[in-house]
Amino acid sequence: MNARLREVTPGLAGDAQIGRALDRVDGPLKVAGRAPYAYEFAGSGETAYGYVVGATVARGRIRRIDTSAAERAPGVVLVLTHENAPELAPFGPRVAKSRLSRPRPYLQGTQVRHWGDPVAFVVAESFEQARAAAFLVRVEYEVEKADLDTRVEPHRDEGFEGGGLPDSEIGDLDAACAAAAHVVDVTYTTPYQHHNAMEPHATLAAWDGERLTLHVAHQMLAEGRTSVADTLRMSKEQVRIVARYIGGGFGGKLTTECDAILSAVAARRLGRPVKTALSRQQTFHNCTHRNESVQRLRLAADADGRLTGIGHTSWQQTAWFDDHIEPTVTCTRALYAAANRSTRLRLVRLDLPMSDSMRAPGEAIGMLTLECAMDELAEKLGMDPLELRRRNDTDVHPEKGKPFSSRHLVECLDEGARRFGWDQRPRTPASRREGRSLIGYGMASAIRPNMLMASSASVHLDAGGRLVARQAMTDIGTGTYTILTQIAADALGLDPAAVRIEMGDTDFPKASGSGGSVGAASAGNALHRACLDVRRQLLDLAAGDAHSALFGVDAGARSSARFAGGWIEAAGRREELVRLLARQAAAGVDGQGRIEPGDVSQDYDQQTFGAHFAEVAVDADTGEIRLRRMLGVFAAGRILNPKTARSQALGGLVWGIGSALTEETFVDARSGAYVNRDLAEYHIPVHADAPEVEAIFLEEHDDIVNALGAKGIGELGICGAGAAVANAVYNASGVRIREFPLTLDKVL
Ligand code: MOS
Repeated sequence: MNARLREVTPGLAGDAQIGRALDRVDGPLKVAGRAPYAYEFAGSGETAYGYVVGATVARGRIRRIDTSAAERAPGVVLVLTHENAPELAPFGPRVAKSRLSRPRPYLQGTQVRHWGDPVAFVVAESFEQARAAAFLVRVEYEVEKADLDTRVEPHRDEGFEGGGLPDSEIGDLDAACAAAAHVVDVTYTTPYQHHNAMEPHATLAAWDGERLTLHVAHQMLAEGRTSVADTLRMSKEQVRIVARYIGGGFGGKLTTECDAILSAVAARRLGRPVKTALSRQQTFHNCTHRNESVQRLRLAADADGRLTGIGHTSWQQTAWFDDHIEPTVTCTRALYAAANRSTRLRLVRLDLPMSDSMRAPGEAIGMLTLECAMDELAEKLGMDPLELRRRNDTDVHPEKGKPFSSRHLVECLDEGARRFGWDQRPRTPASRREGRSLIGYGMASAIRPNMLMASSASVHLDAGGRLVARQAMTDIGTGTYTILTQIAADALGLDPAAVRIEMGDTDFPKASGSGGSVGAASAGNALHRACLDVRRQLLDLAAGDAHSALFGVDAGARSSARFAGGWIEAAGRREELVRLLARQAAAGVDGQGRIEPGDVSQDYDQQTFGAHFAEVAVDADTGEIRLRRMLGVFAAGRILNPKTARSQALGGLVWGIGSALTEETFVDARSGAYVNRDLAEYHIPVHADAPEVEAIFLEEHDDIVNALGAKGIGELGICGAGAAVANAVYNASGVRIREFPLTLDKVL
């Protein structure tokens, strides 16, 4: 029996700032409208406004383009097309060395790659004038037949040219299935999805001589800078990317899009700043999306529910000109023990826009199907689905053979079951009725890899004891400003109000940015090290200062010194920070910090874990599904801020509801256009869809992952969340739907 882990509770951290539920430090600015987003910056000089004109065919060539009417329209100052655009670096081969920093050229020829592909860019004195003129651009196409067979058929196997994960084949899955007491062999499909961040993509581009500054909504500034510089054939030093505040990302702002490149090109041509906002509709076609997937799951188990085989093959669409693949089978490789295993990713190339990462790419939709298949297996076994998970827990990564740095899956399952009242679940599907409603419970495991990306930071402690930290980091609304404040405050014993975090600027030291749930640990540990650099210098100054109470303290005492409440304590003596600074460092102290993935042990596999529980009501007459309540319990290293962590986990749970019940982009098989491209028709769960949703974290201590003991939590909440909802729908209705999202027409 595993020991119970305590719940992380805010406010028990003594005088430490890490672990406190500190309110967002940027909250007051945001609610007062004083946190500027990309589109809200003013250019110096007369800013002009750009509007993207997208192709209206899925595949073909521009035969003729007539911009004369647009050019004569009021306020128009420039219409760019392939006929007058500057030559940019080519997009390059289908497989990019680095996806996020590859060149993103536009208006480079007559070829149309997908519906919405930019064919012209209209710039005018106002946004409204540019938009009005955009509709006057006349384009004639030579239309070619497009491949839009969106229901990716498993028989199509076009492989991929690297960039993805190699297959894993361990033991003999076919033999395991043939010999097993129970086998599940099922195929699930998940739909096209779009990120739909609150803030659509936008850019302000301004040139100062040969130097370009872009205010742009972007999650990863270093990659963005390389992408822009390479596209425009400039050096990276000539490009500055600024993204102080970002209104959500979800992976949709990992890439550099046409708003940034075309604004830069037009601003250079015009010699004035150019601002471009994509409409909500344009973000569907001109930014990335999540692909549809077809996933075959094979599970073989003995009579006691021990897995003997796990198979997972995922087919996904990708744009014909770009091999992008979600690592859909990654979690399947790590979650449960089984001797025989086979996991594969396959691509099918279609005439649709480029895809890229979205909200736990691969893990989210891979866990959606794996954890539903596990529910199907539990049913065959006549076993509690939670017990099935517990029985297949493992101490080592089943495919890599490495131990986990920490793994508390079973603790999350048990704690969740206790809190949720899992023992009250209907044992038989479609057996509990309340009026017209059928009531069901479902559960699923959660898992997601923990990663680290190279990051650096610089800090300056001034003579007044105030710290300014700088990193080319981003806060996409997740609380990065806040947790970095807490990390710096603790390292130097400062009040959070004495710490100012400056980020979102490539003029600052390079940091991870926000993606893959790496931000907190990566940027946080770099900042921590920069603060330790300052500590070391302060202690050296004190030890060498005859006027300091710490004069002469030895290296041992210095390394165990305590910084708290504005004082430095070592060897039982103490000195006030500002007095030391006044005597020894009137100009302040500068520190630098850097962390690389290789700085932490590679002998362990690192994952975060959790458990999801859901209760739904299904209307027996109409098939309408309503979530009643949902709980996520997670163990994910040291929780830097319980408040911002809970918010992120709740977001993950809500996206889980969306993946199970509501989110789906439809492709028009005639035109290649996404047809439901706004928030009225692309259904994201709202408060009314998520009546009682709770997330808790268990206290997990992991000294292996990094000095802060922090793991990435951003994307864990969605992994498995949708499966818990879907399994609850089955438990309620007795109808097993394998085509997501589960809508009422499929229940009936
Ligand atoms: Mo995330 S999908 O890596 O922004």
